[in-house]
Amino acid sequence: MYSLAGYGHMIEDRVRMDAYARAIRKTVRPGSVVLEIGTGPGIFAVLACQLGARRVYAIEADPIIQVARDVAAANGCADRIEFIEDLSTRVTLPVQADVIVSDLRGVLPFFQSHLLSIADARHRFLAPGGTLIPKRDAVWAAVVEAPEQYARFVDPWEKNVLGQDLRPARQLAVNDSQKARFTSQQLLTSSQLWATLEYATIDSPNHRGSLNFSAQHAGIGHGIVVWFETCLADGIGFSNAPGAPEAIYGSTFLPWLEPVSLAEGQNLRVDLEATLVENDYLWRWTTRIASTNGSGPGLCFEQSQLAGAVISLAKLGQSASDCVPQLSEDGRVNRRALELMDGKNSLEKIARQLAPEFPQRFQRWQQALSYVAKLSGENT
Ligand SMILES: C[S@@+](CC[C@H](N)C(=O)[O-])C[C@H]1O[C@@H](n2cnc3c(N)ncnc32)[C@H](O)[C@@H]1O
Repeated sequence: MYSLAGYGHMIEDRVRMDAYARAIRKTVRPGSVVLEIGTGPGIFAVLACQLGARRVYAIEADPIIQVARDVAAANGCADRIEFIEDLSTRVTLPVQADVIVSDLRGVLPFFQSHLLSIADARHRFLAPGGTLIPKRDAVWAAVVEAPEQYARFVDPWEKNVLGQDLRPARQLAVNDSQKARFTSQQLLTSSQLWATLEYATIDSPNHRGSLNFSAQHAGIGHGIVVWFETCLADGIGFSNAPGAPEAIYGSTFLPWLEPVSLAEGQNLRVDLEATLVENDYLWRWTTRIASTNGSGPGLCFEQSQLAGAVISLAKLGQSASDCVPQLSEDGRVNRRALELMDGKNSLEKIARQLAPEFPQRFQRWQQALSYVAKLSGENT
């Protein structure tokens, strides 16, 4: 969920906006039917209208859609845009779209359910011969020398002012990723293509692949940087490569367990895997660094965000198949409140009934009202 300021930053990003605007101008024709998935404040939907689209379906799950409605009205195109407040995967449309526009990525296209949402929209909403914007994303990786970016992972645990041994936490910290920015001078190897996401055919949200690198010059390797380059429409796109004009996305840094001194020509192999688990990606990266003379065993770092997860053993036990769960007071309140949401009772009536049934929880019915209003927003 983004703040209004967050959407503002996306719109201010000239690299992204100019490329999207060019792709939409090239693709949308007078009379087109356009679908925008995740319209945010509605900029691309309005642009499609201004280009003569006959009908624009603008889907957005976030309350920002209200701003998009007002933006459409302010630009005189409210009558041609149908705003749908929901996830695209739960929506049906009366007609198919000639053009589907979206930017559902985070730092990378491997972000939440982006890839599944595009695949779903393509199957259900794209007219035969229709166009997807973006058309394709290519995901690249390189080994990077990045002392400052690495320090953000380890400094809190290595430079402890009380002199305590915080290695258990450091071990977790280096099994996670962070958004970071790098210069092209920080790359120790050439860039290797790891994934090509062809939106016209993609169906799986997961990807795994191996990368073979050779250090182009000596340096200290701190991990892997991963970024994407997009083709929005033929000949129109942009890159987030280190050194490219700065766009809002940045790149993902996967640190190594330790910094490693690399000699020119030293070979490395990285097995990289992104797996969607519920609505988040789990990254695994295994790095094998050959010894300098090629004879010794070299180094191997096996890392994953699973190994970096801060897990409560008590919570883990609650997910075991032999756990016999019992509702907490919160659970009992929820169950009762949901029972009362039967299509007949107003929120006030539900709150007035709930409060005396759970006096420890709600001293006044008004407290129960804000509680049931939130619960109703999530479940009805
Ligand atoms: C990165 S923002 C882009 C907003 C706007 N299209 C733009 O480019 O300025 C992505 C938006 O997509 C929405 N979103 C993501 N997946 C969605 C889906 N499957 N259905 C509807 N909205 C979705 C998010 O809530 C968010 O507002």
